[in-house]
This record gives sequence, C-alpha cells and structure tokens, in this order.
Amino acid sequence: MAVAAIGTSKLSKDYGMGRGLFELDLRVEQQEVFGFLGPNGAGKTTMIRCLMGLIRPTAGSAQVFGLDCLHDYVAVKRRVGYVPGDMPQFGSLRGSEVVAHLGAMRGGADLKVVRNLAERFSLDLSRRYREYSSGNKQKLGIVLAFMHRPPLLILDEPTSGLDPLNQQEFYKLLKEARDGGATIFLSSHILSEVEHACDRVGIIRSGRLVRIADLDELHSIRFHHVELEFAPGAKVPIAAIRSAAGVEEVVVDGHIVRCTVRGTFEPLLDAIRGATVTNLVSHEPSLEELFLEYYQESASTKALTN
Ligand SMILES: Nc1ncnc2c1ncn2[C@@H]1O[C@H](COP(=O)(O)OP(=O)(O)OP(=O)(O)O)[C@@H](O)[C@H]1O
Ligand SMILES: [Mg+2]
Repeated sequence: MAVAAIGTSKLSKDYGMGRGLFELDLRVEQQEVFGFLGPNGAGKTTMIRCLMGLIRPTAGSAQVFGLDCLHDYVAVKRRVGYVPGDMPQFGSLRGSEVVAHLGAMRGGADLKVVRNLAERFSLDLSRRYREYSSGNKQKLGIVLAFMHRPPLLILDEPTSGLDPLNQQEFYKLLKEARDGGATIFLSSHILSEVEHACDRVGIIRSGRLVRIADLDELHSIRFHHVELEFAPGAKVPIAAIRSAAGVEEVVVDGHIVRCTVRGTFEPLLDAIRGATVTNLVSHEPSLEELFLEYYQESASTKALTN
C-alpha cells in the first residue's frame, strides 16, 4: 500500500477541562480530497497545528508522507501548502515581499504562478500587509499555500473572509489542484462546502473523531429550512407540498409556507410548479443542528462523545 498522505495514531493534545484533541486515528490517502468538518472549538486547528509541527502532541503521533510531523517538520513543510486558521502578522512588508521571502525559503517561487494567482483573486501584491483587509490577508495566505504547487494542501477554513465570488474562484483552484494530483485536507464548519469539494469527510466534535462519512451519507444528513411566499390571493398548493418527498414540518401562515427539505429540492419544486411564488428563501442549519437531528435518529447522543 502506498504511504498515506496524512496518518495519525492516537494523536492527542490535552488542554485540560476536556478541551483539545483526543486519540485521533486518521488516514488520508494520496490524491484524496478529505474534508475535516466540525463546529467551533471542535479541535480542527489543533489537529492541523500538530500536522504542521507547530504544537507538540501530549500523546500519539502524526505523519505526512511517512515523515514525522514533529521531528521532520522542515521536510514536511517543504511538501505542504498550508493556509493557517489565523494568518501570521507580516507588518509593513508588501505582499510581494512576503511572497519573495517565503518563496526563497522554499527554493524560489515561480513568479508566473504567483502573478496568475494574485490576478485570479484581484489581490494587489504591491500593498503593505498591514493595510490589507482580512479578506485580502486570506487571499495572500492562499497565494502562499498554492504558489509551489505542493503535493499536499492543508487548509484551515481557507474560505473564511472571502466573498462569494472569491469563494467560487477558490473552489476552482481546489479542483485544479486535485486534477493535478494533489492531496487536499480541508477543514470547515460548513457542511455544504465540504460536500461540494470532498470525497470523504471526517466529522470531529469535542476533540474526537465521531465519524468518517462518504458523500452518500453526507447527502442523507443534509437538510434545509425553506420559506415560500405566494402571491396574495393566489392558490397555495398545500396538499402537493405536504406530500412531496423529503418535505417535512410544513407550517402554513397565510400565504407563507415554511418547511424543511431533506435531500434534493426537486419534489418541492414539482409541487409548486404553476403557482405564483413571490419569494423563496432557503438556508442551511448550523452544524450542531444537523448533528443533533441526524444522530438523534441513528443513536443516542452518547455516540457523539464516544
Ligand atoms: N492554546 C490553547 N490553550 C488552551 N486551550 C486551547 C488552546 N488552543 C485551543 N484550545 C481549546 O481547544 C479546543 C479546540 O480548539 P480549536 O482551535 O482546535 O478548534 P477549531 O475546531 O479549530 O474551532 P474553530 O472552528 O472556532 O476554528 C477549544 O476548546 C479551544 O478552546
Ligand atoms: Mg480553527
């Protein structure tokens, strides 16, 4: 079997009071796109910092391409493009100077690649780092992670702070890296994000890996809250909505209908075909809500913490 891109064995970082990361066993294969999904404080950044050799585990070990993350962290860094959860401070350095500095440490950056990345994200590299908005700091983090075309990308909530257009551009970049044979480890607290980008997803909660889910399982977890507003006086096809597959918890309030939709939207859209809908709002529940809903059905909440 080929060496894993990422392997951890009972990896733990105990911050006390039940906080941190506990006995994480994980294997991410080469060329896999792996999502690391968990709510705030779940332990995603702690795990990623262990991988990057930035913190010392209290127990267990982590390897990247078979290299020990703590002892061989220099060799690990050379193979990894890393977007940190919190960008470090580069003070009054200009974006281009940060790129040149970190590029030189890794044997020289390809300026054509850098220019292309900066253009795609409309990032002005001549500006000083401290003048960048938080979104622009994040974009510089992306340039720094991708500019060497590394075989492994470790990305800690890389889209945070990016507007929707730049998020889309980032997903395109991910796809290109994947098509080029890179392995991607992507942390997120947004189910739809990992659902679009990843082959497999590890779900972490309170420092413990509670599940590894494939895409089918993720689809079954997902649901949306939907609010439909019909034109006043128009006929509301309420019976059709109630009987549509995957549509639940239907509440009618005059010409407004609220419901939850599990799986695809097609049965609901079929049910309202021909009706005059003046507004349709859909939003994804929080990860905690999704977890509670899902795990209540499949097991007691004990399964979440064990
Ligand atoms: N240096 C530290 N000292 C003490 N506790 C810490 C430290 N770093 C993290 N923690 C705690 O460890 C837990 C995991 O934190 P971590 O930052 O890994 O979560 P996360 O999943 O990245 O969350 P977020 O989505 O908010 O980024 C949290 O309870 C946090 O308070
Ligand atoms: Mg984090």
